Amino acid sequence: PKDVGILALEVYFPAQYVDQTDLEKYDKVKAGKYTVGLGQTQMGFCSVQEDINSLCLTVVQRLMERTQIPWDSVGHLEVGTETIIDKSKSVKTVLMELFQDSGNTDIEGIGTTNACYGGTASLFNAANWMESSSWDGRYAMVVCGDIAVYASGSARSTGGAGAVAMLVGPEAPLALERGLRGTHMENVYDFYKPELASEYPVVDGKLSIQCYFRALDRCYAFYRQKIQNQWKQAGINQPFTLEDFQFMIFHTPFCKLVQKSLARLMFNDFLSANSDTQTSHYKELEAFRGLKPEDTYSNKDMEAAFEKASLDMFNKKTKASLYLSTHNGNMYTSSLYGCLASLLAHHSAQDLAGSRIGAFSYGSGMAASLFSLRASKDASPGSLLEKLVSSVADLPNRLASRKRMSAEEFAEVMDQREQFYCKVNFSPSGDTNSLFPGTWYLERVDEMYRRKYARR
Ligand code: ACO
Repeated sequence: PKDVGILALEVYFPAQYVDQTDLEKYDKVKAGKYTVGLGQTQMGFCSVQEDINSLCLTVVQRLMERTQIPWDSVGHLEVGTETIIDKSKSVKTVLMELFQDSGNTDIEGIGTTNACYGGTASLFNAANWMESSSWDGRYAMVVCGDIAVYASGSARSTGGAGAVAMLVGPEAPLALERGLRGTHMENVYDFYKPELASEYPVVDGKLSIQCYFRALDRCYAFYRQKIQNQWKQAGINQPFTLEDFQFMIFHTPFCKLVQKSLARLMFNDFLSANSDTQTSHYKELEAFRGLKPEDTYSNKDMEAAFEKASLDMFNKKTKASLYLSTHNGNMYTSSLYGCLASLLAHHSAQDLAGSRIGAFSYGSGMAASLFSLRASKDASPGSLLEKLVSSVADLPNRLASRKRMSAEEFAEVMDQREQFYCKVNFSPSGDTNSLFPGTWYLERVDEMYRRKYARR
């Protein structure tokens, strides 16, 4: 099959949020720390009525209803998540419930876990299936989602929640570019979840940011090597730079980190340019010549200088992709794909047509890849690209229709989640009218831990 990639995409986020200015006051930190320092304005969160199964049920059902494809036309479905409520039974098996009436049980794929990377691993697996001898001609579906919650303290404001489902098939309006994946994997303890009785991670925030930067440097170097090799074979002999990405999206723990990351990619371009180009293209940055990337993770002068130099590029290539992250927070495995949805929601099909979108996926622990999507050239009314773009156009309105909860209410819900985590034989309390219409929710956990869901 040609041009395997994303045909359609659906985003789900909770119907309630806490404002980051309220959290700053509640946490007694200086005004601006979360809103300016981290670049976050609002954070979505789930009550005890929602868990990872209900989030994924909702997003898959919405995608199926929107695309109207038959339930038996899906042959592969994989779920990437790090929100673990069962050490054995995958979320995928719960999603099979949706396919039951159609009689379609012939669906490969289970769950994939490594921090925020599971969504990307699932997307790669779906594309690999489709390009392999195992493909039976049907669609693949990739589901990613998480409830990102932290213990009270400095990391809590970088939480969030949500899920994304993607329909994968040939001749896609956003095709995965073949052979262009730069990957970096390594054993580190920057963010992990060893306490199985707790929903919270153990996190070394400063180390985590360093690891993210290191993975970014390495993945970009591998990606560039691979694309330059492809170019060389086609007789083109030139270095790849950020100019060759019309858009660039990133896994987004918090928005400020993404702005720094784009600056860092420019720093990488600068380091690998020859000295003439360094002088002509990167004005007033000569002082940073000869630095080694691994020595600069906490170099604030370099960071500030390249942030300034890359500001226009950030506004053009990346800023629009941060809309959902700014207003909803980190969705872990689905963060990068929420960025993709935001990018599509803020650009016309004409803007996007023919463009190359760079995508950096990072999962702590760590697993990371930089890859690229190519938008189809056809942006005419009724084209797949135009349909994809218009399908996410309601994102800002949907976000604006959520209910604002106080920081006190948010803290209370976090306490409730702690009490109910691992609990048996209970029905979560709460008003189902506070959920968006069509949302699946947890109705009951019985005495054998079996979970029963209903739809609003
Ligand atoms: N006004 C404006 N900016 C401010 C203010 C203020 N009043 N106060 C602080 N800031 C700035 C700081 O200068 C800093 O910016 P800088 O890094 O550009 O200098 C920023 O706000 C954050 O302040 P810190 O003191 O560094 O924040 P803290 O120590 O509380 O931790 C952190 C922030 C590490 C991100 C924490 O929230 C965390 O651990 N989060 C979870 C881990 C994470 O997201 N890791 C990233 C990748 S892995 C993943 O996706 C889970």
